[in-house]
Amino acid sequence: MTNGTGMNNKISFQGVVKTFPMKGTDFTALDGVSLDIADQEFVTVVGPSGCGKSTLMSMAAGLEAPTSGRVLVDGRPVTGPGPDRGVIFQQYALFPWLTVRQNVEFGLKLASVPAEERHRRADRAIALVGLDEFADALPKTLSGGMKQRCAIARAYAVDPQVLLMDEPFGALDALTRVQLQDQLLATWSREKRTVLFITHDVDEAVYLASRVVVMAARPGRVHRIIDVDLPYPRTEDIRLSAEFRQIRNEVWTSVYHQQPAAPAA
Ligand SMILES: Nc1ncnc2c1ncn2[C@@H]1O[C@H](COP(=O)(O)OP(=O)(O)OP(=O)(O)O)[C@@H](O)[C@H]1O
Ligand SMILES: [Mg+2]
Repeated sequence: MTNGTGMNNKISFQGVVKTFPMKGTDFTALDGVSLDIADQEFVTVVGPSGCGKSTLMSMAAGLEAPTSGRVLVDGRPVTGPGPDRGVIFQQYALFPWLTVRQNVEFGLKLASVPAEERHRRADRAIALVGLDEFADALPKTLSGGMKQRCAIARAYAVDPQVLLMDEPFGALDALTRVQLQDQLLATWSREKRTVLFITHDVDEAVYLASRVVVMAARPGRVHRIIDVDLPYPRTEDIRLSAEFRQIRNEVWTSVYHQQPAAPAA
């Protein structure tokens, strides 16, 4: 889809400012963020707590509107949520009265997917996150990591063009995390999706992405964009390579040794 700039962008943040009203004065959460994400690109976002990562994602999801600037998906301004964008929230929310399978099928039901296909797609997504044995369990009987995997399965089942993922693997043990990273990469390359993925984990950011966006806080803005010049499919060998380590160190330094921002107004 060609947008006003003539670029082939799936998601485009153009001079995005987001302020929140705060006791008489406004708090600037994002101050002029411009970022283009190409169709079928995998971009990760890292940055200090409070730099506006979740706020940025909420705008692409259509849950928040920018105070000024524009957020475009497929060249059109985002006006609300849509089935083209699957969202996995930092604070995953499951319906406590529905089983794992019913939670996963929820979005498909909204989209009027017929029952048989709904079951098939839900079963596949549930298997993908390794919850087969718990398909009929209620969320309260699951561990934190299992609830998170259920929320991931719910987004996968809808099979959206764009995946917006806010620290989706945060509560998972290291092994499950690596497995889900590899599954996500496999799905992404097979189905040609566009992924915007927020994480606190620098290794994860580099392993998954073709570009890592490093944000800075106070006010929230794009600090640096680092290209990850490593081939796909990503493998254990790549994870252990000197090239990987070098990019990882660059991202790490960029996140944790940022020059102090100019004094906030
Ligand atoms: N609805 C809101 N009302 C007021 N302030 C908000 C609101 N949402 C976010 N903020 C503020 O905007 C800033 C950015 O928040 P955001 O949640 O986007 O940060 P983040 O980068 O996702 O942080 P974390 O890494 O801790 O998840 C924070 O200072 C936060 O307090
Ligand atoms: Mg956040």
